[in-house]
Amino acid sequence: MDTLLIPRRPHASPTPPHARAALLEDPGFGKVFTDHMVTVRWTEGKGWHDAQVCPREPFQLDPAAAVLHYAQEIFEGLKAYRTRGNDVVLFRPQANAQRFRESADRMAMPLLPPDLFLGAIESLVRTDADWIPTGEGSLYLRPFMIATEAFLGVRPAAEYTFCVIACPVGAYFKGGAKPVTVWVSDNYTRAAPGGTGAAKCGGNYAASLVAQAEAIKNGCDQVVFLDAAEHRYVEELGGMNVFFVFDDNTIVTPPLGGTILPGVTRDSILTLAKDAGLTVQERLYSFDEWQADAKSGRLREAFACGTAAVLAAIGEIRHAGGSFKIADGLDGPVTCKLRDQLTGIQRGTAPDPYGWVHRIDMEG
Ligand code: COI
Repeated sequence: MDTLLIPRRPHASPTPPHARAALLEDPGFGKVFTDHMVTVRWTEGKGWHDAQVCPREPFQLDPAAAVLHYAQEIFEGLKAYRTRGNDVVLFRPQANAQRFRESADRMAMPLLPPDLFLGAIESLVRTDADWIPTGEGSLYLRPFMIATEAFLGVRPAAEYTFCVIACPVGAYFKGGAKPVTVWVSDNYTRAAPGGTGAAKCGGNYAASLVAQAEAIKNGCDQVVFLDAAEHRYVEELGGMNVFFVFDDNTIVTPPLGGTILPGVTRDSILTLAKDAGLTVQERLYSFDEWQADAKSGRLREAFACGTAAVLAAIGEIRHAGGSFKIADGLDGPVTCKLRDQLTGIQRGTAPDPYGWVHRIDMEG
């Protein structure tokens, strides 16, 4: 895809190099932001207009802006990596562009052309390239769209802002690559059939927070949601998809059926697992089966996956009725192998037979 020319209004006083270096030493996740952002506006009758790279600063938003009342908001998450050969690359950005359109469609928002999505991201990465961590870290990119029209009637807004911000990040979980403990929620569900479960909209995450708080109260890192209809089948975690690895070389993940986020990492894992000779099944998997399979030893590993979390082994499961471990509760060999393969492709240390890596022309 050709690069779009997006006008640049640089920051008058960007973060000095020594302060930036200090921030990059241990950025954590989602707390440190780069100096710039991209904004593009959409107005009914006019379409997309006024794209710019500008200093990252607070928005001017009318208190009646539709996003503040009816939550017309969607977002994406993807990462830029600096490879050992000093290239700057993105991982499957076209997949994020496509999912962003699907989320927009579900939330009655305008569809952003994929070349504008990619052009905005590339422009921001070029502008703030000095913020890309080397080594284990990456630059997490957060494209999002909000309804900005000031209007209190309940209907799709007539004005929107698309924005991309960037954030140097390390590991998502505080414990790094240590297996995580998850809490199976009895009280809350994430998405019902016909709802917004497959869209990456802020509302889904807002609705997960009380369940996530319950997980933390019970000493867990993440909540696991069961299906809303029967409260029986495993769907996904608070912010990531889930996989199960069995002793007969089978790997299982819940099927996409409108209630689960179609993760880019999930999709990549399905391909890698198939090509590694594993039998891949997208099928319903109940919490009862999970407990029985862990007890019998048939279940060897489970892991959570997402752009932010990459692949995190699930070591222990807690629920209202007790707790259980999977195998020895450690990072299993299949989880490790898939993680190494995926991060190898993303960081350019392994071949990319799928054409997933998108190199950014830094001179563009
Ligand atoms: C991502 O993995 O990029 C997400 O958007 C999930 C969120 C928990 C950070």
